[in-house]
Amino acid sequence: MATYRPDHPNPAGRRPRPAVLLMLAFFALQLLIFLTFRAVRPAPSPASSSSSSSAAAERVRRDGNGSSCGGGLVYVYDLPAAFNEDLLAMCDALSPMYSLCPYLANGGLGLPAEGTNLSSLLPRELVGSWYASDQFALEHILHRRLLSHRCRTADPARAAAFFVPFYAGLAVGRHLWAPNATGADRDRDCAALLEWLHARPWYRRSRGWDHFIALGRITWDFRRATDEAWGGSFLTMPGVANVTRLVIERDPWDDMDVGVPYPTGFHPRAADDVRAWQRYVARRTRPRLFAFAGAPRSAIKGDFRALLLEECQAAGADACGALDCAEGRCIRNNALVMELFMGARFCLQPRGDSFTRRSLFDCMVAGAIPVLFWRRSAYAQYSWYLPAGEGREEEWSVFIDRDKLRARNLTVRGVLAAIPEPRVRLMRERVVEMIPRLVYSAADGGDGLGGGMEDAVDVMVDGMLRRAAEQRPRWRTT
Ligand SMILES: *[C@@H]1O[C@H](CO)[C@@H](O)[C@H](O)[C@H]1NC(C)=O
Ligand SMILES: *[C@@H]1O[C@H](CO)[C@@H](O)[C@H](O)[C@H]1NC(C)=O
Ligand SMILES: *[C@@H]1O[C@H](CO)[C@@H](O)[C@H](O)[C@H]1NC(C)=O
Ligand SMILES: *[C@@H]1O[C@H](CO)[C@@H](O)[C@H](O)[C@H]1NC(C)=O
Repeated sequence: MATYRPDHPNPAGRRPRPAVLLMLAFFALQLLIFLTFRAVRPAPSPASSSSSSSAAAERVRRDGNGSSCGGGLVYVYDLPAAFNEDLLAMCDALSPMYSLCPYLANGGLGLPAEGTNLSSLLPRELVGSWYASDQFALEHILHRRLLSHRCRTADPARAAAFFVPFYAGLAVGRHLWAPNATGADRDRDCAALLEWLHARPWYRRSRGWDHFIALGRITWDFRRATDEAWGGSFLTMPGVANVTRLVIERDPWDDMDVGVPYPTGFHPRAADDVRAWQRYVARRTRPRLFAFAGAPRSAIKGDFRALLLEECQAAGADACGALDCAEGRCIRNNALVMELFMGARFCLQPRGDSFTRRSLFDCMVAGAIPVLFWRRSAYAQYSWYLPAGEGREEEWSVFIDRDKLRARNLTVRGVLAAIPEPRVRLMRERVVEMIPRLVYSAADGGDGLGGGMEDAVDVMVDGMLRRAAEQRPRWRTT
């Protein structure tokens, strides 16, 4: 594999440049002032409150045999605090650029959108379903949801799959930009976790084949090749070889990585909230043909994002809306991005510094049709969520071959405008229909969204139980 360039399309994921740093320092200062007066602390994870955890266990005992858990039950390990809770407690120190505390509040959902710019965009009754969520908060969000999931069991003897709630992204992330951090620093927590896990009887029984973890950062942050290279080396450690990793960007050549959606800001509590949102985005007028939000890399000659930004400008503001996210202008200001996508029929999703972007999910939640330029950006990533192969990706997305675009002197505008309106309508309906499975519900009851509607976590649990069953022959001889 070519060396991975760790300059992600977002501040939390790339090495800062001086201007960005300055801006972020300013941002951090504001946050600090905000925090001093508001004393925002991360909500304790449900695991730390024994009363709520025993209530959840009670629900689990009652409902665990429910027909919807036909695939089996999931056991959630109670890890030493150093592997999750302690990391939340140091939310101020996890990122050098800004405090993560506001983003890890509310069980990882972040601060509510109420009272922010985003709320002015939303129908009154839906404001409560939106948060300022961090794109790397998956680990905490998933842990909270699984603890109250209807398919959780508190009895490992009854479990068909085992969740290891190690916050690996937070653990590695806090050393990524530390000037003196060594490879050993970035790997210490991961190695300790594996040592702990390998001593558990349930791990030893299956050698890890029915175990899974969640990674809130892209897979390349855990696959350091040499000691000087970027990232930790968790996923290259032999001890993690049989454990399934649910990760926001997977390595297409590693079948133990399973792609799961980036968290967006939409965290509905109930199926009715989702249906109201689906109606809302389905009915919105979309004056613009397409939209693009991204930061061009001026330093890279022929950067594809810069070309798309130029195409957008050439198409004119009536046809294309562009948001130049350079210098961190779109950082956490999801309002600008959501407003843009909610007013467009298509949104362009080129690769960023890695192949995937949270923007794909913002786009679809906004009810716009994603336009992809690299197969690895979605089709080879999220097979549990985004159907692909045998033309199924054409139901909900448009793929434009970058080389043909240039060779045939076509424009993105030309290609998109040539798609017949009835077909566009069908694709949009399909995207809107897919929304529930792409979002992380804020519900804390065992039923999740309820009404038989599955969110991203329900899809994960089903998928992991299926996978554990498929892998059983690898370790079970009887
Ligand atoms: C919020 O909206 C106002 C008015 O549209 C705008 O001037 C301001 O810059 C926005 N703030 C942020 C943080 O986006
Ligand atoms: C990093 O190492 C240098 C040289 O050893 C030292 O002067 C500096 O204080 C260290 N910085 C931090 C943040 O520990
Ligand atoms: C992974 O599974 C194989 C086959 O079951 C086993 O030989 C190996 O020891 C396992 N590795 C770990 C780290 O458990
Ligand atoms: C490409 O198309 C543009 C306008 O559509 C035209 O002006 C230009 O001459 C074309 N270039 C080539 C090489 O065909």
